[in-house]
Amino acid sequence: MSRTYARSKELFEKASRLMPGGVSSPVRAFGAVGGQPIFFRRGEGAELVDVDGNRYVDFCQSWGPLVLGHWAEAIRADVTEALAEGLTFGACSPREVACAERVLEALPGAERVRFVSSGTEAVMTALRLARGVTGRPKILKFEGCYHGHSDGLLVKAGSGLATSGIATSKGVPTSIAGETVVIPLDDEASMEAAFADFGDELAAVIIEPLPANAGLLEQRPELLGMLRELCTRHGTLLIADEVINGFRLRYGSYSDTVDLRPDLVTLGKIVGGGMPVGAVAGPARLMDQLAPLGPVYQAGTLSGNPVAMAAGAATLRVLAEGAVYDRLETLGQTFDATLTDAGSATPWLRWKRVGSIIWLHCAEGELPRRSDRVKAEAVDRFNRIHPAMLDRGYYLPPSGWEVMFLSAAHSPEQVKGLAETLAELLGAL
Ligand SMILES: Cc1ncc(COP(=O)(O)O)c(C=O)c1O
Repeated sequence: MSRTYARSKELFEKASRLMPGGVSSPVRAFGAVGGQPIFFRRGEGAELVDVDGNRYVDFCQSWGPLVLGHWAEAIRADVTEALAEGLTFGACSPREVACAERVLEALPGAERVRFVSSGTEAVMTALRLARGVTGRPKILKFEGCYHGHSDGLLVKAGSGLATSGIATSKGVPTSIAGETVVIPLDDEASMEAAFADFGDELAAVIIEPLPANAGLLEQRPELLGMLRELCTRHGTLLIADEVINGFRLRYGSYSDTVDLRPDLVTLGKIVGGGMPVGAVAGPARLMDQLAPLGPVYQAGTLSGNPVAMAAGAATLRVLAEGAVYDRLETLGQTFDATLTDAGSATPWLRWKRVGSIIWLHCAEGELPRRSDRVKAEAVDRFNRIHPAMLDRGYYLPPSGWEVMFLSAAHSPEQVKGLAETLAELLGAL
């Protein structure tokens, strides 16, 4: 029953001669799971079709943006209408105003939003704004949280105590990495130590309120409460990076669910409905410090692109009705129930699900809340079954560190099929 991937293989060989590693973003190269990347022709609802004609139920959903599935019926009219009116004006359009209204109505305390073209840019902008407003140089991030690929964020701490960062990528000058303080998640003592050491120099702390980039590392509410308190006490801005979280788990921010009350929120993925969009939102007193009103510069040729804004606003319009979140939760419960049954004979089968985000951590013991507690054997088990999942028609993110996403386009049968196939393949390891 093994599928053939001849055309994908051919394309990858060609792509490898034309693009570094044959890809436009590194994890797509399938380095962690072996084999070679699949080249896709089409997305339809919950499914992807590759260039060899193989079909897959897609549980990656472009890494999160497609909460309604591929080319969702509900947003098509808006997007095609926008397409017919022109791809970009490099100028103001009513579509960005409509999208801004949608974003702001969902975020309590946010009065202004600046649109950019990616999550990376959104975070860069938020950090520059925080530095501009506070006049301070440093930022604090948590190990295992990913905030895009800008210089100051490709930084990792030494283990244990708070420390100035060391770059995890070549090409990041020490002078820049040194302005990033990195501490582990789930560790109040490190947080207090970092503020004691650097509090007066910290422009901002950035955190994914539900970290979803090194597994799914749910944080305790006490820790998030303490973080807010420390930021307030030290005059440090708190940035909630909701590029994944935002609009994924409710209409609005996950910060709201956990009562985090950030100063700035960064968004991406779902707010673009599958088109390249990022956003920073916050109160006018901060946001109006951005150019052209304020002294903090930021700009973008394609920012607020009309087609992207149409996709984003239409997606948010559908989400505002609320039914999608109920459907996603029901699908998630179907996944839990099926895997609980089908996997009962495999003692180390574990997973974490919050709403429509699912992460397998197949190892004995408690689910981790910080990245250095993620077990190598768990990542390895996921990576080992990935090729067989593909062969059975399930496209999963190509790394055990990554989470899976449910969309409103998935059917209960597809979700059951996922859980049963995972249980079967993992059980056979
Ligand atoms: C939390 C978070 N912030 C920022 C980014 C960067 O977004 P982008 O890939 O659109 O630049 C990501 C990407 O996955 C993310 O998950």
